[in-house]
Amino acid sequence: APALPLDRLGRPLRDLRLSVIEACNFRCGYCMPADRVPEDHGMDAASRLSFDEVETLVRGFARLGVHKLRLTGGEPLLRKRLPELVARLAAIDGIDDLALTTNGALLARRARALREAGLRRITISLDALDPALFRRLSGDRGELSVVLAGIAAAQDAGFERIKFNCVVQRGVNDDQVLLLVERFRGSGHIVRFIEYMDVGTCNGWDAARVVPSAQLRDRIHARWPLHALDANYRGEVASRYGFDDGAGEVGFVGSISAPFCGDCHRARVSADGRLYTCLFAAEGADLRPWLRDGDAALADHVAGLWTQRSDRYSELRGRASASRRHVEMFLIGG
Ligand code: GTP
Ligand code: 5AD
Ligand code: SF4
Ligand code: SF4
Repeated sequence: APALPLDRLGRPLRDLRLSVIEACNFRCGYCMPADRVPEDHGMDAASRLSFDEVETLVRGFARLGVHKLRLTGGEPLLRKRLPELVARLAAIDGIDDLALTTNGALLARRARALREAGLRRITISLDALDPALFRRLSGDRGELSVVLAGIAAAQDAGFERIKFNCVVQRGVNDDQVLLLVERFRGSGHIVRFIEYMDVGTCNGWDAARVVPSAQLRDRIHARWPLHALDANYRGEVASRYGFDDGAGEVGFVGSISAPFCGDCHRARVSADGRLYTCLFAAEGADLRPWLRDGDAALADHVAGLWTQRSDRYSELRGRASASRRHVEMFLIGG
């Protein structure tokens, strides 16, 4: 087997986050605010990679040491025939962890087909349990009851240890934190609280709205005592805490207060086949020309790009050397 590439900071490539579609049926203000992102926001269906191209791409990344694949969007369940794509990707040698991040709105219809296609893990965004607030946070497009039905369907289809992602904004939904913990404690599922990040260019980020993970942890600990848990794997994004009473765990993604670039082993590819070596990258590298020559050629090319990588935006945030142009979150799925 060929030597696996390390980037300029010595980091291997282990995870691929692949967007299958840039469109979304929600308009969360921190990602795709309705007043800033037009209905028709540029990419048309024809510019998306075909399933054949996606399969070649993932085979290429698997050659470079990627064993973990997460499908994202936009909203990935909007991609037609997604279960068929999942089945093709689940069959690729070396991909032993296949996960999906969704807003859950279309999950009731699709959970079983995805499970049967070989999807092993699912992460659902859930920013509030108050129906009116939920609706507002989705840009008036999402209904909490529909997402809750999606969650129930995912459970029925056999998904265990579902992860729920809550992006916390001070004064907006921080009053939902304890409600979310209470709701899912003891369920076998895992709620993770994510610091509101300055992704993209149109989310109107305001540092005053970031609630540091340590504060949330203390707030939860005061009600349900917690203890730190070891990471499941090197470079795990969320820090884990277990409930002292055995009711499971919660997680915190503190990329503002405690950046984790040193262990960042993730590549991101947009639905139109561009490689982004950081969530905050300004530009992506078009991989399509190499896809035509097959997975080995693609792997060689990506190895070259990875070797050049020196991204560590979260560690540089606020400094003059930090880039100000960032790819939009909905193009690379977080
Ligand atoms: P598993 O550990 O495999 O379950 O997944 P994950 O926690 O890596 O995936 P998920 O998509 O749920 O990520 C959680 C949150 O962390 C999302 O909001 C991501 O945008 C954010 N995130 C994931 N990777 C990175 C990263 O490399 N840098 C930064 N700054 N944020 C990240
Ligand atoms: N800050 C933090 N997380 C974000 N996400 C999207 N935009 C942001 C942001 N500005 C994350 C959410 C969602 C996933 C798709 O991306 O966690 O669950
Ligand atoms: Fe859509 Fe997810 Fe972005 Fe919300 S965060 S607008 S659900 S892609
Ligand atoms: Fe990786 Fe960029 Fe996130 Fe740092 S900011 S952890 S380099 S994606």
